[in-house]
Amino acid sequence: MSRLIIVSNRVARPDALNKGSQGGLAVGVLAAMADSGGLWFGWNGRIENRPVSEIREESRGNINFVTIGLRQNEYNNFYRGYANSVLWPLFHQRPDLMTYRHHYRMGYLGVNRKYVDHLLPYLKPDDTIWIHDYQLIPMAKMLREAGVSSPIGFFLHTPFPPLDLLRALPDHKDVLTELLNYDLVGFHTLTDERGFHEAIRYSMKGDISPSGLIDCQGHQLQTGVYPIGIETDDIPDLVKTGKHSKEYQQLKLELGDRKLLIGVDRLDYSKGLFHRFKSYEQLLKNYSDFHRRVVYMQVAPTSRGDVKAYGQLAQQIDQAAGHVNGTYADFDWTPLRYLNRGFRRNTILALYNLAHIGFVTPLRDGMNLVAKEFVAAQDPDNPGVLILSKMAGASAELKSAIIVNPYDTEAVANHLATAIQMPLDERKDRWEQMMETLRRNDIQAWQRNFRRDLVPRPHAI
Ligand code: F6P
Repeated sequence: MSRLIIVSNRVARPDALNKGSQGGLAVGVLAAMADSGGLWFGWNGRIENRPVSEIREESRGNINFVTIGLRQNEYNNFYRGYANSVLWPLFHQRPDLMTYRHHYRMGYLGVNRKYVDHLLPYLKPDDTIWIHDYQLIPMAKMLREAGVSSPIGFFLHTPFPPLDLLRALPDHKDVLTELLNYDLVGFHTLTDERGFHEAIRYSMKGDISPSGLIDCQGHQLQTGVYPIGIETDDIPDLVKTGKHSKEYQQLKLELGDRKLLIGVDRLDYSKGLFHRFKSYEQLLKNYSDFHRRVVYMQVAPTSRGDVKAYGQLAQQIDQAAGHVNGTYADFDWTPLRYLNRGFRRNTILALYNLAHIGFVTPLRDGMNLVAKEFVAAQDPDNPGVLILSKMAGASAELKSAIIVNPYDTEAVANHLATAIQMPLDERKDRWEQMMETLRRNDIQAWQRNFRRDLVPRPHAI
């Protein structure tokens, strides 16, 4: 098999592993590379103001990491700007939170060009290149223009919006043209793939075969649905080690007989924390029997805190959490524990195991690996219940979760009550069904299926 080159903005660099700062993409890609190894290229996570970026090369097992820094203005226009103030809100169906600036687009193209320039010397003719996520859409076009003829695939970890929304992006046709330069474009769900097809068909006048083969403006490419999985079989061992953590031990002691509801999310408006807190508040309002018998712990480390919409969100969430505790807490019971920080991955997995309910209700989410990891971390003899938003990609696979509409806070409160009281037999049945999916479609299956379909196709340059 040819050498695998992975490119993603965030790289799970060896020195940052298991520090609690890694998002789903980095953890998933690292696991996917475990078998084949290869080269992983991206941002080193630092802002540096030297005129020429320093390239850092490190190896861990069969993976070579090559990372570079960003200058302050690159970070501002590319990362904070086009990636996270334009594409992210738009792709998560929040055009109202989009701040569009022309110089953001220039900065975005500039950093993609910089990544291409720094990657080129590492490439060999028979490599397979796999680019990840919305930050790096233009890379295939730039690589092709530089003469690279290797197969280049793209996987979008976020949702892809319907055309009516995509049209709010002034450069949407440029973005679509950039995507045409890949040989394979992968999505988490059929809905995302459908959005892309709609845009290609109506905005770019492309032809699409029933199997997802696109013919458009001299490019041929395949699209496909590849829902990302987790390291399903490895999770129980990670849970075991996490149980040694002081956080797990202390929480277990403090909980006593109380049932734990747990949510773990980056502090992002797409995660629906405000609505989630309101649903929990509604539960406490409607079901006073549960007072003192449940504790909801929400872990939400700050993310992209220097992007305006995120700063506002942080304040709103602080207030909502304060309101729940202000209304219902007593000297011996804090109903909502909101922790604005991250924990080690093993610790989080052990907390999932301790919890009775996984509370995963994003307003929009590409996949949501918390949902999958919560399920895989359960005790088979006494599994907890997953409450999962229909707006998360994971709901297309985890059909035996309690699937909820996160906007309907009264219904979510009722579903919480059902979950708290769900009999063991039903919990086991639901859990078994979800585990069957997680075993079949684990992280290795995800990378195998994508790489199987990534073959070179004709492109007009
Ligand atoms: O596509 C979503 C994603 O890449 C996740 O994998 C990850 O949780 C998040 O975005 C990372 O965001 P950032 O790199 O901005 O911290």
